Amino acid sequence: MHTPFNDIFKTRYPIIQAGMGPYDTTKLAVAVAKAGGLGLISTVGMGSFKMPGIGEFKYSAIFGTGTPEQLLERSMDHVLKEIVTDNDARFGVNIPVSEEFIPTAARLIKYVIDRLKKDPAAKKKCVVIVTSAGDPLPWSVNPGDKKLDVSIPIKKELPSITWCHVVPSIRAAKRCEKANVDVVIASGREGGAHCSWRDTSTMVLVPEVVQAIKKPVIAAGGFCDGRSLVAALALGAIGIQMGTRMIATKESDFEQSWKELLTKTTEEDTLIARGFFGPMRFVRNSRALKLVDATVRGAPDLYKGIPTGSTQEIIDLEVNGLENLFKGNIDETPVLGGQVAGRIHDIPTVKELIERIIKEADETLAKLQKFK
Ligand SMILES: Cc1cc2nc3c(=O)[nH]c(=O)nc-3n(C[C@H](O)[C@H](O)[C@H](O)COP(=O)(O)O)c2cc1C
Repeated sequence: MHTPFNDIFKTRYPIIQAGMGPYDTTKLAVAVAKAGGLGLISTVGMGSFKMPGIGEFKYSAIFGTGTPEQLLERSMDHVLKEIVTDNDARFGVNIPVSEEFIPTAARLIKYVIDRLKKDPAAKKKCVVIVTSAGDPLPWSVNPGDKKLDVSIPIKKELPSITWCHVVPSIRAAKRCEKANVDVVIASGREGGAHCSWRDTSTMVLVPEVVQAIKKPVIAAGGFCDGRSLVAALALGAIGIQMGTRMIATKESDFEQSWKELLTKTTEEDTLIARGFFGPMRFVRNSRALKLVDATVRGAPDLYKGIPTGSTQEIIDLEVNGLENLFKGNIDETPVLGGQVAGRIHDIPTVKELIERIIKEADETLAKLQKFK
């Protein structure tokens, strides 16, 4: 399957494995890159860092110790070592740029740029920075009114990198065009984790973003197989980004209990609650229901004015809940996941998954020809 995606990212297939911080996706990114997709390293332990207005969380027992740069360096070193002999293997880095996270995001963006400038082998393989969860403008060549003390013009510093930004709305997509982002990832409400209170489904968002801007668009939120890949292409996207589906693979770094829970979750079993960095989609379990209760208490009229930031109750429920994952209590863990969990029924290898998707997409395209 060849779309403009393959030419932009130099991969075999038009598939991105989503960034899924604060979780580690290093091994997953290796497997995806080797299987012909674009693997993304996530911002591991993003909650461990001090954030203005939120404070500091000690995730180090879970995600390892070190500065943000050291954690990223560890992941990049591992991916580069593993894919050095795979000619087509490509990967990128996801760095959320939400308000609370801007100082850390700037450090991470700087780390990637500096490293790629001095390391040609890394520059060949690490082809993308995916920013998300915030405003792209401070990171553009001309940040203008959105220039922050820590602004870094990504494309000016490193013109060879492809810069993608994730958006939940047409307004945000237009902002990407203004910032001259290379590729826009339109992520619909079905998706796991970060979403928007004023959410729009993938089916509505993707074609409208495609129509509203002149940049290539990748669809995210609800993708898992060949049929949904073809649907994304039909909506005008050049490829797909998958998060939840990629978690439930043999190589993924996520706990086995998380993977298994996804295979048992139905399409009705996810819900949105306030999370650490704003609204998130969780798999429905005891912890998620507690988060919903806390969300409703903190915002009696969700649709009139949703408070930004997070309450202490939410932070405690989410951050402390994370330890339960490693204590074997998945029901009291805040498990992020999208509606597409209802379409996940197995835990294949990444290679099996990607090859199955491409085969099914080819078959689906052939079947559709019959309707002409
Ligand atoms: C566990 C988990 C963590 C996530 N963390 C991030 C993140 O750190 N940055 C980001 O841009 N998106 C994050 N997302 C969203 C994904 O990047 C992706 O856009 C989304 O999963 C797509 O929808 P899907 O789950 O239906 O495939 C996360 C998703 C999940 C499931």
